[in-house]
This record gives sequence, C-alpha cells and structure tokens, in this order.
Amino acid sequence: MLKIDIATLFPEMCEAVLSASIIGRARKAGYLDIACFHIRDYTADKHRNVDDTPYGPGKGMLMQADPMYRTWEAACARRGGRPHVIYMTPQGKTLTQERAKELSQMEHLYIMCGHYEGVDQRVIDEIVDEELSIGDYVLTGGELGALVLADCVGRLCPGVLADESCFTEESHWDGLLEYPQYTKPAVWHGAAVPEIITNGNHAAIARWRREMSLKTTFEKRPELLEKAALNEKDKWYLRTIGWTEQTEKEP
Ligand SMILES: C[S@@+](CC[C@H](N)C(=O)[O-])C[C@H]1O[C@@H](n2cnc3c(N)ncnc32)[C@H](O)[C@@H]1O
Repeated sequence: MLKIDIATLFPEMCEAVLSASIIGRARKAGYLDIACFHIRDYTADKHRNVDDTPYGPGKGMLMQADPMYRTWEAACARRGGRPHVIYMTPQGKTLTQERAKELSQMEHLYIMCGHYEGVDQRVIDEIVDEELSIGDYVLTGGELGALVLADCVGRLCPGVLADESCFTEESHWDGLLEYPQYTKPAVWHGAAVPEIITNGNHAAIARWRREMSLKTTFEKRPELLEKAALNEKDKWYLRTIGWTEQTEKEP
C-alpha cells in the first residue's frame, strides 16, 4: 500500500480534504496510508517558530531549514525508511498524469509544503529528490499542490477506484482527452443522447468513442496530438476533421 506523508503548517486543511470522498474512503478501507506531519511539532524553539527573515534585502519570511529537516527525520523514523521526497514549488516540473502514474508505483512519498516566501535552500538541497509544480502561477502555500498530488496519485493505487478502466479510459492516460459522456434521461432540453451509444453494438461504440476522443483532443488541445500514439485509422479520421500532421518542426 502506498504511504504518503505530507509535511505542512496546516494539517487540519489537508486532513479535511483527504478525509472526504473517494480518498477518504480508500484510507478508511486500508488502500492508502496518508499521514500529515505538523512542521511546528518538530521545532527546537519553545515558541514553535518555523520561519525567519531572509538574508539580503527583501520583504517576507522564509521557512527555516531545521524544522523542515526534523519533520522529515520524524517521518523517516515513524515509517522506518527513506521516502521519495517531493517539494511542491512553482519552480518544479509541472505535474502530469504520466508522472502521477510513476509515483503511484512507489512505496513511500513525502511531500513538503512551503509557505511565506518559500523554504531555506539548504534543506531543499539536502533532502529533496524532486520538485513539482501544479502550474505556472504562485500560491500562498504548498498545501493545495500537495492535495492535488495526493489525490491524483492516490486514485491510481489498487483498490481505490473500482477497477483500472476507471482511469485508463480517462483524459491524459494515453495522451488524448476523453470522449463525451451521457447519462439518463435519453433526451434532456431537447438534446438526445447520440444514437450509436444506445444500440448495444460494442465495436461501434468503441470506434465512436475513439473518434470522439480524437475530435475532442483536436478541438481543445491540438498540441497533445503531436505526442499521442496514433494509428493509421486515427490519422485518417483526424484528417477528415481538418488535422494536418506536423512532420517537421519549424527551425
Ligand atoms: C509564495 S510561494 C513561494 C514562491 C517562491 N518565492 C518563488 O518565487 O519561487 C510559497 C509556497 O507555496 C508553494 N507553491 C506556490 N506556488 C506553487 C505551485 N504553482 N505549485 C506548487 N507549490 C506551490 C510552495 O511550497 C512555496 O514554497
């Protein structure tokens, strides 16, 4: 079972999210082992301070190396091993479904949340294996990123969702976006569900879904098609809706 530890100044914020819905149920059922470590519990300072002013000119506070380091030591001691350490930061590589898949196969992840102006570089240099961002913008703290990461990695772990098809047929798994989906009623506000998905012909439905997935990707995120694994039939279909293959990159 995947273990995920989150080092944070706001464990109650993380717990509130990670106790709800599918991830909360998976934790209760024993498919995921997630723990939050309150960085303030690991200070040597009697006032439980975790931050100080940065060296050099500039405003704001920076998280100190020592409480971050002690929190990591506590997690290693409690779990009995060294985790893969991820620091959530706008400077990291952007999180992708592909990386989430790889991370879901690890044994133990430790996610470090910064706050204020960030974290003293020395502890990053000493314990962090990987820096991840959830997008090219700046948040007040790493918690939202850590929650995004724990959710998207956690749902890929065995037992969390009903079966693998719950995520292998979704957007970004194979580089494409998902086809449109419909539920009851068959007609809503005058719009009927496409006839082809109601007629029980599984081969025809599979082909329709593939084509709709290609079309959706072409319309919403055409750049994804450059990296997706497309067969000749896919390319033929895409050409009929206006796609042209990029064989050469502009210099
Ligand atoms: C205000 S930010 C610090 C930004 C830092 N001074 C910089 O310019 O790179 C405070 C904390 O929020 C988190 N954070 C902010 N934006 C993030 C993002 N896009 N992805 C992941 N974490 C982020 C990081 O943990 C960071 O230490």
